[in-house]
Amino acid sequence: MLGNLKPQAPDKILALMGEFKADPRQGKIDLGVGVYKDATGHTPIMRAVLEAEKRMLATETTKTYAGLSGEPDFQKAMGEMILADGYKPETTAALATVGGTGAIRQALELARMANPDLRVFVSDPTWPNHISIMNFMGLPVVTYRYFDNDTRAVNFEAMVEDISTAKKGDVVLLHGCCHNPTGANLNIEQWAEVASILEKTGATPLIDLAYQGFGDGLEEDAAGTRLIASRIPEVLIAASCSKNFGIYRERTGCLLALCTDKATKDLAQGAMAFLNRQTYSFPPFHGAKIVATVLNDADLRADWMAELEEVRGGMLRLRTTLANELRDLSGSDRFGFIAEHRGMFSRLGASPEQVALMKQEFGIYMVGDSRLNIAGLNDETVPILARAIIEAGV
Ligand code: LMR
Repeated sequence: MLGNLKPQAPDKILALMGEFKADPRQGKIDLGVGVYKDATGHTPIMRAVLEAEKRMLATETTKTYAGLSGEPDFQKAMGEMILADGYKPETTAALATVGGTGAIRQALELARMANPDLRVFVSDPTWPNHISIMNFMGLPVVTYRYFDNDTRAVNFEAMVEDISTAKKGDVVLLHGCCHNPTGANLNIEQWAEVASILEKTGATPLIDLAYQGFGDGLEEDAAGTRLIASRIPEVLIAASCSKNFGIYRERTGCLLALCTDKATKDLAQGAMAFLNRQTYSFPPFHGAKIVATVLNDADLRADWMAELEEVRGGMLRLRTTLANELRDLSGSDRFGFIAEHRGMFSRLGASPEQVALMKQEFGIYMVGDSRLNIAGLNDETVPILARAIIEAGV
């Protein structure tokens, strides 16, 4: 039977991770997978996370099953972190999931249970695994124009035109902040316009919030999501704790379903718990407990926020340094967008051949669409990358 299986195309981002590992060159530079790294190339455990784990080890007395939808302290902490005063637990269904990807998958499953004929609108480009999951589920995907390859900014006019064709019962997937893979984001006026289109069309937004705290700040990065939540009756939010808590391998995420009334919330909560049960039964506990411990303790929370700001500030500084270096080398401002983009990623706008050349000649690994992970750089490698970009003719 298993011999009937068809070979699967490898995930491009994960394949690149393997290729980088296998490269014997000393000076190789990994700008591939979206994982934060410090200046030494290490992905540290955040201070508050370590302290929370110590406390958990000292106080936990059992490993028996916990909540099927996750623990209430985690759900509440996430709801408040994402929505602040806009979090209304009485009308919000919440689900702990296996990472942010698990939240995306359960959100799509939930939407399909509610409307078997739904279409999903996704930005062009988007995180490749979004499309892959939708294709695997057999969901019709409609792309909306998003990124202007010339300016490397959002082509908002085109986005507006395309998402205006969505209908009630469709889902429009939006990146809450730090757009992956481009780094180009909506400003708050544009979020307001997107809200008006969603009001008009009746389509349901699904907001992928995987990088809260990595762009303009913890509160600022949730501003678009909060605006949508304040205006649109039903909103799905898939949040990841992988990046902002640095707990990638703990697989910690959360799905929020904002409803108009308590009866609908109860329906959604029941369906979401059912989805967890059918997929993997109970969600992982450890990472969610770390997050709840950090967010619910004033000192740990303050320390976590301070460290998150250090991480964010470091990435912003690298962006400016790289943009300046490229301005000096190219004698033009055409790479200024790198300093304007936010989050871990920027799409450089290099051709696949140029990306391949940078890998071969300089040992610089970025995703084939020329997405680079800013956090993979440090002060020594910024000039090397800048020179490679110019020599590759980008
Ligand atoms: C990325 O886009 O690199 C990250 O979200 C990691 C992943 O799972 O692809």
